[in-house]
Amino acid sequence: MEIHDRAESQTGLEKAEIPAQNLTMGFAEKKLVQESVIRAEILGRDFIEMKILSSGERVVHYVGCTEFSHQVLGLKQKYGPDPEHWEFSNLGNHWDLLLKEFILKCRGGWEVVYEAKELCHCRNVTTQTIEQAILCGARATEEVSRWTSAGTACGTCRSHVEAILKVRFLSKR
Ligand code: FES
Repeated sequence: MEIHDRAESQTGLEKAEIPAQNLTMGFAEKKLVQESVIRAEILGRDFIEMKILSSGERVVHYVGCTEFSHQVLGLKQKYGPDPEHWEFSNLGNHWDLLLKEFILKCRGGWEVVYEAKELCHCRNVTTQTIEQAILCGARATEEVSRWTSAGTACGTCRSHVEAILKVRFLSKR
């Protein structure tokens, strides 16, 4: 079983296709019949995804700022090509939050605390907008409210925002 890796920086200065490497753990036991994608992203900015092809082959692709690319390369060098084996930190930078989401999704341990598409019904703010605000730097419900206007009417949605913040900043490994 093989994993390929492609990286591009947003500046266009880096573009690399890294040859396949053999995987010795995890992938071989999994019977994958359908193509699927595991992805974490800041819309229009950074993303990392792993495509699981019907053959079982896995391809990791990421695009992002220099720091984000640097972090991904560091993880690969330290832990190998399989994102399930990567470790994440809880420093709270956008790349840390994004990589934590991606790694936990790859491990099957990502917790979705609010599933509905719209989170704040008074202001019609989507859950995705809340998630993106947190990824971009909002660290408290008040900040999320200021940036998105969620929670600025009846206030019943604030507990959901708090729950999302808690999961994002939990030090789970
Ligand atoms: S549901 Fe968000 S303020 Fe009412």
